[in-house]
Amino acid sequence: MFDLESCGGQKMENLMQPIRTPVDFKKGIVAPDRVIERKAGDMEGMYQDELTLKKLVSQGNPLMYQVRQVDIPEEMGHIAYSTTIISPGKVGNEYFMTKGHSHAKENTAEIYFCLAGEGYLLMQTRKGIVSTTHMKPGILGYIPPYWAHRTINSGNKEFVFLTLFPADAGHNYEVIQRCGFAKVMLEEGGRAVLRDNPKYVPPDG
Ligand SMILES: [Fe+2]
Repeated sequence: MFDLESCGGQKMENLMQPIRTPVDFKKGIVAPDRVIERKAGDMEGMYQDELTLKKLVSQGNPLMYQVRQVDIPEEMGHIAYSTTIISPGKVGNEYFMTKGHSHAKENTAEIYFCLAGEGYLLMQTRKGIVSTTHMKPGILGYIPPYWAHRTINSGNKEFVFLTLFPADAGHNYEVIQRCGFAKVMLEEGGRAVLRDNPKYVPPDG
C-alpha cells in the first residue's frame, strides 16, 4: 500500500518542490540560476587555427557560447536541464563550437532539442567512431550512453538547444581536451564539411 507519510525514504514534507521554467525559443531558459560563458580565450587548443584564435582573443575575445542552467540536485533520479546558445562565427574556416565532453558516468545518455538556428551534434566513441546529427528547430538528437559530444554552429544565427540529462551524469572535459574529436566541421565553399582532424590523438584503450 502507498505510504502517504514517506516517499522513497523521504518525508513528504521534505520533497523538492516542482519547478516551472519559461523557455524562450530564441534565447533558451529565460531566468537561469547560473550562466556559464565560454569566450575565445577559454578555447585554447580546441581549434585547428591557433594563430587566428589568438588574434580573436586579442581583438575583443568574443563570446563563443553560453550555457544557461537551472539548479537541480546532482543526484540519481533527477533530470538536469539547460539551454546552450552558440554564437555564429568561425575561427579560420572552423565553425564556433562547444568544448565537448563525455559524462563522468559514461553509461548515461542525453537529449538535445533544437530551438533555433542550425548546427551539428558531433558524437564520438572512445574508439574514435564518429556520428553526426544535423540539428534545426524541432529536431531532437539522442546521445546514447558512452558517446562524447560537441555541438557546432554551422549557420549564421545563434544556434540554440535544450539539453536534458541524468543529473548525476557528471562532466568529463579532460579526454576531449587532450585527444580532441577525430573529425572537425569546416566551412568549404559555403557548406559545412566534415574532415579528419589532423590533431586527433586516439585515447588509450
Ligand atoms: Fe553531456
